[in-house]
Amino acid sequence: MPDFKIAPSILSADFARLGEEVENVLSAGADIVHFDVMDNHYVPNLTIGPMVCSALRKHGIQAPIDVHLMVKPVDRLIGDFIEAGASYITFHPEGSEHIDRSLQMIRDGGCKSGLVFNPATPLSHLEYVLDKVDMVLLMSVNPGFGGQKFIPGTLDKLRQARKIIDESGYDIRLEIDGGVGVGNIKEIAEAGADTFVAGSAIFNTDDYADTIAQMREQLAM
Ligand code: DX5
Ligand code: ZN
Repeated sequence: MPDFKIAPSILSADFARLGEEVENVLSAGADIVHFDVMDNHYVPNLTIGPMVCSALRKHGIQAPIDVHLMVKPVDRLIGDFIEAGASYITFHPEGSEHIDRSLQMIRDGGCKSGLVFNPATPLSHLEYVLDKVDMVLLMSVNPGFGGQKFIPGTLDKLRQARKIIDESGYDIRLEIDGGVGVGNIKEIAEAGADTFVAGSAIFNTDDYADTIAQMREQLAM
C-alpha cells in the first residue's frame, strides 16, 4: 500500500483558535498541515501569510507544513516562507515568471518544492523540471475557496500524473486538493494520489479523529 498522507486544509479551521485547531487535527491523526495562501490577485480571496506560519512553529507545531501559494508573483514570498518554517512550498506555474528558478529557490532554502495544476492547466509544465519537484499537486476545484465540489475529470488527470511520476523514477508525492472527503477518497487513491488535502470534510465535522479514521479505512479497503 502506498504511504498515504492526510493533509487537513486549515482554510476551514476556526482562525480565532488556529493553534488549538492545528493541535487537535494532528492529534486526531493528520500527517501534514495544508496551509493555503491567497492574495486577492491570483485568486479572488485573501488568507494568511508567513507570520501565521511562523506563529504556528512558535506555538510548537512540529508536523510538516505544506504551504500552497495561490499568489502572483511567487518569488518574494518563497523566501519569507522558508524563514517562517515551511516544509513544502508549492506554487502554480501561472504565478511564476521563471518556474525553474522558483523551484530551485525553494530547494536551496531547504524546503521541498512542488508545482500545482489548476483543473485546466496542462501537466506539460512538468516536462523539464521533474528533477526539481518533490510534490505534484492537482487541484480538483478552481482555487480560491474551500467547500467546493470535486471536478470528476481530475481522476483522469491523476492517472496521467501518476504515470509521468512513475516513469520518471523520481520520488515525487502526488497530492490532490479540493472536494476530497470520506465518500470519494478511495477512488482518488485508486487514480494515483498519495496525499489528500481535505478542508471542509474534516473541519466541518464534530469529531476530527473519527473523520480521519474513516478516511484511512477507505484507503485500506
Ligand atoms: C482551495 C484550497 C483548498 C481548500 C480545500 O483553493 O487550495 O486547500 O481549502 O477545501 P475543501 O477540502 O473544503 O475543498
Ligand atoms: Zn490548497
